[in-house]
Amino acid sequence: MAGFDAFARVAKEVRRDVLAARDRDPAARGVGRIEILTTWPGIHALLAYRVAHALQQAGMPLLPRLISMFTRTLTGIEIHPSARIGEGLFIDHGTGVVIGETADIGNDVTLYQGVTLGGTGFATGKRHPTVQDNVTIGSGAKLLGPITVGHGAKIGANSVVITDVPPNSTVVGNPGHPVRVDGRRVEGPDADWIHLPDPIAEAIQALSSRIVTLERMLAEQADGDAQPLAEVRPLRTVKGPNPAGG
Ligand SMILES: CC(C)(COP(=O)(O)OP(=O)(O)OC[C@H]1O[C@@H](n2cnc3c(N)ncnc32)[C@H](O)[C@@H]1OP(=O)(O)O)[C@@H](O)C(=O)NCCC(=O)NCCS
Repeated sequence: MAGFDAFARVAKEVRRDVLAARDRDPAARGVGRIEILTTWPGIHALLAYRVAHALQQAGMPLLPRLISMFTRTLTGIEIHPSARIGEGLFIDHGTGVVIGETADIGNDVTLYQGVTLGGTGFATGKRHPTVQDNVTIGSGAKLLGPITVGHGAKIGANSVVITDVPPNSTVVGNPGHPVRVDGRRVEGPDADWIHLPDPIAEAIQALSSRIVTLERMLAEQADGDAQPLAEVRPLRTVKGPNPAGG
């Protein structure tokens, strides 16, 4: 009876996963459920995870990890059987997604390829992120440690997030930092995280102005016989146009 209950629960969860793919993947418009179930790697990974997780919870040794390892070979998606995942997770494309042992994912979350929900070191216990409902995590984003990503947050592609993320915010960059909260641009003296200063460019700028000063002094001492001053080209401006647009 317990086996039947587990089977019914897994079937229900997989059905929700397929619906999530159909709703949230633009490439799935007009595609039937059977086609999604049989050809979407994110769905295969979740189906295998849900079976492995149920077996793990039932105390089955070895097999859950074998399922996880085989699925990683097949899909490029690695989900630890002990991770906790809610309903309606959508993993788009999938390759390179890693979901660690103590990760906790709420309902209706979207992950793109290359997302890591990982630990920061060799700590034991809860060491992977908690991701609340309706969160979207862009491709290549790394979320590390036992942080909490608040409900409805968006994590930009390639961000590295090591601190808690407020609900309904947009977090980008490395280190990840909020640029929007509740749809509004983050205000404050240190709020401009997009146009960060470039310490190497600043050091070169300081050196070139010293060289100009020295050349001037030499020219004065040589009483006009010295070579003309070298051209100093300006370094790129720190606050240039944003290549991401917006
Ligand atoms: C972060 C994201 C979700 C956009 O969220 P949003 O709330 O609509 O935010 P905006 O587009 O208004 O961007 C907010 C600011 O962050 C910047 N930004 C957006 N995405 C960024 C990223 N990945 N890295 C760095 N900065 C980024 C924008 O330039 C903007 O800067 P500004 O305030 O100077 O104008 C989106 O840019 C993103 O990265 N999506 C992931 C998509 C993805 O992985 N697709 C893979 C498909 S295969």
